[in-house]
Amino acid sequence: MKATLAALMLCISSGFAYKILCILPVPSKSHDHLSLGIVKPLLKAGHQVTWATPYEKKNIHENLTVIELKEIREFVESVDIMSKTDLGFQYMRNFARNISIGTAQHPVLQRVLVEQQFDAVVSVWFMNEFEAGYAAIQQVPWILVSSVGYHPHLEKQVDQVRSIATVPLAFNDNGDRPMPTVRRFINGLIYMIMNFDEWFDKPTLTSTYESLFSPLAARRGVPLPPFEDAYHNVSILLANSHESIGYPMSLPPNVINIAGYHIEEPAPLPKDLQDLLDGSPQGVIYFSMGSILRSAALKPHTRDALLKLFASLPYTVLWKFEEPLKDLPPNVHVRSWMPQLSILVHKNIRLFITHGGLLSTLEAVYAGVPLLAIPVFGDQPSNAERAELAGYAVKVDFKDDMVPDVEAALKKMLSTDVYYNKVKQISKTFRQRPVPPSDLVNFYIELAIETQGAYHIRSPALEYKWYELWMLDFVLIVLTILVLFITLVILAVTGCLRRILGKKQKRLALKKRN
Ligand SMILES: *[C@@H]1O[C@H](CO)[C@@H](O)[C@H](O)[C@H]1NC(C)=O
Ligand SMILES: *[C@@H]1O[C@H](CO)[C@@H](O)[C@H](O)[C@H]1NC(C)=O
Ligand SMILES: *[C@@H]1O[C@H](CO)[C@@H](O)[C@H](O)[C@H]1NC(C)=O
Repeated sequence: MKATLAALMLCISSGFAYKILCILPVPSKSHDHLSLGIVKPLLKAGHQVTWATPYEKKNIHENLTVIELKEIREFVESVDIMSKTDLGFQYMRNFARNISIGTAQHPVLQRVLVEQQFDAVVSVWFMNEFEAGYAAIQQVPWILVSSVGYHPHLEKQVDQVRSIATVPLAFNDNGDRPMPTVRRFINGLIYMIMNFDEWFDKPTLTSTYESLFSPLAARRGVPLPPFEDAYHNVSILLANSHESIGYPMSLPPNVINIAGYHIEEPAPLPKDLQDLLDGSPQGVIYFSMGSILRSAALKPHTRDALLKLFASLPYTVLWKFEEPLKDLPPNVHVRSWMPQLSILVHKNIRLFITHGGLLSTLEAVYAGVPLLAIPVFGDQPSNAERAELAGYAVKVDFKDDMVPDVEAALKKMLSTDVYYNKVKQISKTFRQRPVPPSDLVNFYIELAIETQGAYHIRSPALEYKWYELWMLDFVLIVLTILVLFITLVILAVTGCLRRILGKKQKRLALKKRN
C-alpha cells in the first residue's frame, strides 16, 4: 500500500510539465553557477523553463528558453570593481538596482511577461524587493532564492524578525555564544539603522515597483496589487544556507535551506591535472581568487613575492591565473581555468587559498579542505571571518604587501592538523542530509504550483501587526487589570484602616467627653 502510494506520488510530481520563469540576472560567474543549480533540476524533471540570464547559453536543453540580458552583462563589464574605492552599501545597492531595473525594462523579458502565462516565477533576492512585481502580474506563486542565506531582511518579508537577539549579524560576530550583551546591543542597533534605511527607501521601492510594473499589468489586463501585498507574497524561499556552516535559525516551513544545491558530482579531472595531483603525495595547495579579481589587479611586486613564497614550499602549488607567467618555479603550475571542485576533492589537496566567496567556501566545505581566505569585498570578509571562527580557515587582509601575512598563515596552517580535521568534521555534517539539496528545489517549486501558493506552509506571523506578534496588546490589558486590581486593594485597605481608625478616634473622643 505504502509502495503504491509512493509510486503514485512520484507519478503525480513528475507527471505534469510546468512553465517556469526564472529571472536570475545577477551578473557574476558564481551567481551563474547558483542559477544553473535552480534551472537544471527543473529541466531534469521535465518542466519548460524560461531563463533570463546575463550570459549567453547555447544548447543546454530542448525545454529551455533563454532570454539573454546582454546589456546587463555589458553594463557590469564596463565597471571595474577593483578600481572602486567606495564599495559601501549605498554604492552596492545602486549598482544592484541598476541591474534589476535594467532587467525589468528588457524588451524581450517584458514581451514574454505580457504575452505568456507561466505557472511560477523564480527570482533571486538582490536587495530589490520591487521585483515582487513579476509574480504579481503573472498572478502565480513566487519562489524567491537567496544566494546569501537567510537574514533579517528576509525574515521580515516571509515571517517576523526572530534572530536579532540570538544570531549575530555579519561583522558582529566574535564566536562567543551566547552573544555577549554588548554584541546583542550592537545587533539591535544595526537592526534599528537597517529599519530606518528601509523606511527611507520604501517610497523609492514603491514608486519603482509601480512605474516598472503598472504598464505591464495594464498590457496584461490585470490589476497591479499594492507593493506591500506583492512584497510579502512569497510562496517558497530557497535559502543558500545550512546549519553546519552558519547559525541554526528559526524558519517558517516555507523557508528551505539548500546550501550546496549547486554542487554536482565532480567531473573527472583532465589528464594533465590528474597526473599532477596524483604525483604530489606531499600535498597540493590550490590558489584561486575567483573570477572577479583579475590577475591584472595584482601588482607585479606582489605577484613576484607570491611566486618566491610558493617556490620555497615543499608542496605543489596550482594557481588559477588568467595570463601565463614567466620564470615559474618547478613546483608552481598556472592555468587560466581550473575545474575547482574536481581539484578540491582530490585526496592530495592540503589547502585552498581563496577570496572566501560563498561558492568557494561551500565547495571547500563540501570537499573538506581548509581555507586561507584573502577576502576582497562584498560578503567575502564575513564569510572568511565565519570560517575562521569555525576553525577551518585563517583570514589575511588583501593588500599589496600581504605576502608576509600569507606566509605566516601558511606556516600556521600547514604545521598542524587542527584545521584539516575541523573542516573534515564540518564537511561531514554539511553532507548529512535526508535528501540531496538539489532535489528540494524541484520538490518545493512543484509544491508551490500544485497548492496554488503554498499558503499552508507560510508563516502566520504575516497576518498580524507587530504589537500583536509581541503580544503588547495582551500585556497592556494584563498590566491594566493588574494596576486596577492593586488600586482597588489599596483603596479597600486604606478604606478599612480609615474606618477602624475613625471608630477608635470616635471611641476616644466619647471617653474623653465622659
Ligand atoms: C521537454 O518537454 C516535453 C513536453 O513537456 C517533454 O515531453 C519532454 O520529455 C521534455 N524533454 C526532456 C529532454 O526532458
Ligand atoms: C546607476 O545608473 C545611474 C543612471 O543610469 C547612474 O547615474 C549611476 O552611476 C549608476 N550607478 C551605479 C552604481 O552603477
Ligand atoms: C499571491 O500569490 C498567489 C499565488 O501564490 C497569487 O495567486 C496571488 O494573485 C498573489 N497575490 C498578490 C497580491 O500578489
